Amino acid sequence: MSHDERLPRNRTYLMCPPEHFTVEYAINPWMDTKVAVDAGRALTQWEMLRTTLTGLGHQVHVLDARPGLPDMVYSANGAFSVDGTVYGARFKYPQRAAEAAAHQAFYTSSFAWRYVEPQQVNEGEGDFAYLPGAYGGLVLAGYGFRTDPAAHAEAQEVLGRPVISLKLVDPAFYHLDTALAALDDRHVTYYPDAFSPASQRVLAQLFPDALLADREDAEAFGLNLVSDGRHVILNTEATGMARKVSAAGYLPMPVDLSELKRGGGSVKCAVAELRA
Ligand code: ARG
Repeated sequence: MSHDERLPRNRTYLMCPPEHFTVEYAINPWMDTKVAVDAGRALTQWEMLRTTLTGLGHQVHVLDARPGLPDMVYSANGAFSVDGTVYGARFKYPQRAAEAAAHQAFYTSSFAWRYVEPQQVNEGEGDFAYLPGAYGGLVLAGYGFRTDPAAHAEAQEVLGRPVISLKLVDPAFYHLDTALAALDDRHVTYYPDAFSPASQRVLAQLFPDALLADREDAEAFGLNLVSDGRHVILNTEATGMARKVSAAGYLPMPVDLSELKRGGGSVKCAVAELRA
């Protein structure tokens, strides 16, 4: 990756406080229902993440948490927006199904968005990433654990952007955003072994200059990051990843999200980007 100047771009995000956060069911390998979650701590850590983003000048909308939806804090899963069009989510597991309507209500309450209800199972930005500066605007999409590959074709029709399907093969990295992240408008970082050999080839062809992460980085949720093009917000455990993004010219900003990791998520899972 070349060391051009890394310029930030102002972003708009959507977050949902972990007010009803628990681990009472297990739908990914990180969730252990026998270990209690410290709800107060989760909320303090979440606040820190929010103020880190607002402190950088970004706008953060807050979606009200709803009782009975403990995973709602992972707001990235609720939809995927590109250029003002919102492709809604349809969750794989019934425990999270009602989150989609809460996100839908957020978008349809404003004229800024064209919301499209999905037919196919997909978990929003958990499995979709957008690179506005790559190939004129490219969507990367994961499948294998949550999102149905049929949703990739549906998203392409809804958004009018090419969608590249990538197969995830490691259950520890069940969403695309646990294995790959956009560092800016055209650069990505990813953990190759989270993908099938064929999908690794596709990524290598599209992004020859990608920053490659290793298993340790991925297990520390180092790829579950949010970047504004210059500042890379990632969790404090991901020290190796912080070093790598720093060597590539970005500015790592560590935030402690140890409680959210108990649900199988970190920074990116808790932050949906709104692309008007
Ligand atoms: N417990 C949640 C689930 O398994 C975690 C979601 C993480 N979100 C994400 N964008 N990867 O569905």
